[in-house]
Parts: sequence; structure tokens; C-alpha cells
Amino acid sequence: MKPKLKILVLFDAVRPTSLDQDLSAELQTPDWKTEAAVLAALRELGHPHATLALFDDMDLLRRKLQVFQPDVIFNLADQFRNDRALDQHIAAYLAMHALPFTGCGPTALALCKNKAIAKRLVASHGVRTARFVTVPRAQRRLAPPPLAFPLIVKPLREEASYGISGAAFVKTAAQYRARVRYLQERTGDDILVEEYIDGRELYVSLIGRRHPQVCPIRELVFGNLPPGAPRIATYQAKWDLAYRRRRGVASGFVTDLAPAVVRRIEAASRTIHRALEIDGYARLDLRLTPDHEVTFIEANPNPMLSPDEDFAQSAMATGLTYPQLIDRLARLGLGATRS
Ligand SMILES: Nc1ncnc2c1ncn2[C@@H]1O[C@H](COP(=O)(O)OP(=O)(O)OP(=O)(O)O)[C@@H](O)[C@H]1O
Ligand SMILES: [Mg+2]
Repeated sequence: MKPKLKILVLFDAVRPTSLDQDLSAELQTPDWKTEAAVLAALRELGHPHATLALFDDMDLLRRKLQVFQPDVIFNLADQFRNDRALDQHIAAYLAMHALPFTGCGPTALALCKNKAIAKRLVASHGVRTARFVTVPRAQRRLAPPPLAFPLIVKPLREEASYGISGAAFVKTAAQYRARVRYLQERTGDDILVEEYIDGRELYVSLIGRRHPQVCPIRELVFGNLPPGAPRIATYQAKWDLAYRRRRGVASGFVTDLAPAVVRRIEAASRTIHRALEIDGYARLDLRLTPDHEVTFIEANPNPMLSPDEDFAQSAMATGLTYPQLIDRLARLGLGATRS
């Protein structure tokens, strides 16, 4: 039997915390289902563990490390001071202190966060990605971009489909201007504008560093959207259960692709993994065009880990139970050296 690990599970919090914060109320809420699932898995595995929720005080972590001295940190902190752009710095802090931790290091987190940087890198490695431009947050003059409509307009650095509604799909210059202005005001982020890629929406999960395991491919199927509605994973399509039921939007495994196509998707996924220096676990968002061309949309390092999400579903389809998956990620983190 493998030795037990002493694990510090690191969360993010939305308000200041203390060293021994009681998180039991939060852990009952749907927002904390990933955190609760990971803790339940650690209990089942018998790993001694402690938790720390970080808001804006890295000194708490230093003190916790002194008293608890973990073998590895299970890093579930994906924001700092309520800012999702700062997650890479938490990983950088851990790397600077030579603390073993799960998931991706700061380089992968930074490269994937900026979707334009990620697309340039992926394209330079020969994987197709939609043509795009970026619009600075302060730019007021909005001439139509040199791209072919329809376009997708989204924040350059957001995730979880924030800012992605049906209106992200734009067919005219007027719609384009309206959507860019709206996102500039609402998100304060720069804007990514890319050509819309028609095709199937695929999610590929990978685990590992140099020779990652590519897990069975998942797909978001768009059932019966209203006529003319874009087939994209809007915030509603992802998170609104009533809408998903009504519109037949469903997640599942891909079973109908020819083995040669699956192999091409897997090869492209490995290339993307390498291009973006992914060194932990990740979920890639791809589109497969009607003529079976693999197109990169974006990469999600440290994707949500709850058992019902695509990443865990894919990983478990390789034959792991959920606790075994959590154990695997912890042991992978233990052996990592990061950049
Ligand atoms: N160029 C594109 N062509 C077609 N569909 C697109 C394109 N860009 C984005 N989409 C659609 O919009 C969805 C959300 O885009 P994206 O993955 O970039 O956002 P996100 O907020 O990072 O999402 P998440 O973090 O939940 O994966 C995609 O899953 C896809 O359905
Ligand atoms: Mg996405």
C-alpha cells in the first residue's frame, strides 16, 4: 500500500478568514461542492488533512505551513481577493517556496488565462484556432474587425462562461459594437473577438506533465435550441438546469467518432498541452468542424473537480473511482517541480 500523505487543502474565500476558520457552513452550499467532494475523498482515502481558505492574506498560509507541515498542498484556490486573474500568483508563491502542490504551475495558468496568448501558441504548434483580434478595454473607436461574420465576442481573460450569452454571437457590425461596449463596461477586461467555428463542442481532459494521459472525450450536445440560436456553451447552457432540461442541452461521452478522428483529437490535445506548458491537469475546449477539423477554443488548467463535471467524469471513465482520482492528483503534485 502507498504511504498516506499529509495534505493541506487550499481554498479561496470571498471574505477575510482566520487560521482555523470554521468552513462547515460553506461546505454545505452548492458553491462549495467541489471542496466538499475533495474533502470527502481525502477522508475515504485516510490521508490526514487540514484546510485553509485564503482571501487576501498569504501570511496565513505561511503560518499554517509552520503548524501543519504538509507533504503536499491540494490547490483549489482559483482566486485571490475575489479576483480570478490572481490564481497564478498563488501557484507562484507555492513554487517559490518549493512547496509541492497539485494542479498546474504559474506558467500554465498564465498562458491559458490570456486566451489570445494561448491561441497564438497553439496556432504556432500547428493546431487550428479561429482567427481573432483583441480590443483593448479603453478603445472607443470600433471599426468592424478584419474577420468574417458571424463572430464570438468574449472577455479575454474570463472563465466559466461569464459574459457568454446568446448576444456573444454577433452577425452584424452594429451587434459587434454593442457587444464589445457592453463587455468593456461590464468586465473591465480587454475583449477577444474571434470567428465563429461551427461544429461539435468537445471537452478533452488530460492528466499529467510530460506524457499526459488523454481521457475519454466528452461533448456538449445542444438538443433543441430555438431556431437561429447559436450552438454555443452559454452561461445558461452550462449552469441553468431548467434551461438545459427544456432545451435538451446535455453532456455525455463521444461514442460515434471513427477511431482515426479520435486519434487526431488526442494528438491535437497533446500538442496543445505541450504548447501551453500544462503541467498538472486540464480540460481543453475544442470544436470539431463538420469536415472533422479539430479547432482549439481555449484551455482550462485546474478545471472544476467536482464529480459531476466533465473533467472528473472523463477521468473516472479511465477506470478510477473519484477518491482514486483525487489520490492520483495529490501524488502527481507531490512529485512535481514547477516553473
Ligand atoms: N470561436 C468560437 N466558435 C464557436 N464557439 C465558440 C467560440 N468561442 C467560444 N465559443 C463558445 O462559447 C463557449 C464559451 O467560450 P470559452 O470556453 O472561451 O469561455 P469560458 O468562459 O472560458 O468557458 P469555461 O471556463 O466555462 O470553459 C465555448 O464553450 C463555445 O461553445
Ligand atoms: Mg470554455
